[in-house]
Amino acid sequence: MALSSSDVERAHSLLAVAPRVVVLTGAGISAESGVPTFRGDEGLWQNHRPEDLASPEAFERDPRLIWEWYGWRREKVAACQPNAAHTALARYALGRDKIDIVTQNVDGLHGVAARSVAGDDDPRPALPIELHGNIFRLRCTRCGDVWPSREAIDAGSEETLPKCPECSALARPHIVWFGESLDREQLSNAFKAAELAAVCLVIGTSGVVQPAASIAAVCAQAGGDVIEVNPEETPISAIAQVSLHTSAVEAVPAILGREPSADSSASV
Ligand code: OAD
Repeated sequence: MALSSSDVERAHSLLAVAPRVVVLTGAGISAESGVPTFRGDEGLWQNHRPEDLASPEAFERDPRLIWEWYGWRREKVAACQPNAAHTALARYALGRDKIDIVTQNVDGLHGVAARSVAGDDDPRPALPIELHGNIFRLRCTRCGDVWPSREAIDAGSEETLPKCPECSALARPHIVWFGESLDREQLSNAFKAAELAAVCLVIGTSGVVQPAASIAAVCAQAGGDVIEVNPEETPISAIAQVSLHTSAVEAVPAILGREPSADSSASV
């Protein structure tokens, strides 16, 4: 769908004057980087039941199968680069301290974009709150230790599966699976950010997975404005002041990628 310049201007103006912003992203922001989404015709959940591959019970039943699937996903994501939407967001965030990026994505691409925009030695980029974990982090099933890992997964046998460097027990992906709770502190930080923000920018999520989906509603209930970027209507569209029904790569640089104009507050 064509991008309406008045919607772009409106979103840009809201963002330009907002003292504090929270951004919620989902799989759609990474779709144009080549990372598969979950729902929809090409989505991961089209051919697999989530509880068969992304649940603690499934891992207990057959860790080799689950690691095979995550190994495949890790390879796919490792070959992907941040796109213009990740980069525009990283640039926008670098210039501000009152912005929180909350993502449901486990691909780590917000972090890659932030480091590439700021440079490895710059301490400024605040890393996103990764509500559902990160596919390049592993966790020990016994001692709970978490560590970064980018090596290829050998799921040929149970013996070759990744093990904890501390206690040698079986490792699992550091991802929140179905039926598991999100990290309490991360969740509380995300909802605090939503309450305080004047604008919630929602990019590429179907808005059906809780509690992440409520972040926009919490911001709206506290008086904030919601801007949504998604080619499709979602449950969040109903509470959005501005809905940009187009792709993240088209919309996000358009609304964030330039400096605020001098009279931006006049058009709010
Ligand atoms: P979904 O796959 O449910 O939704 C992706 C959304 O992105 C859809 O609404 C699409 O319309 C939209 N979209 C597709 N291409 C886009 C593009 N180029 N630009 C912008 N938007 C686009 O993914 P999520 O909402 O992220 O959880 O899913 C939420 C959670 O459900 C995931 O984190 C995952 C999954 O089960 C866990 O694994 C715990």
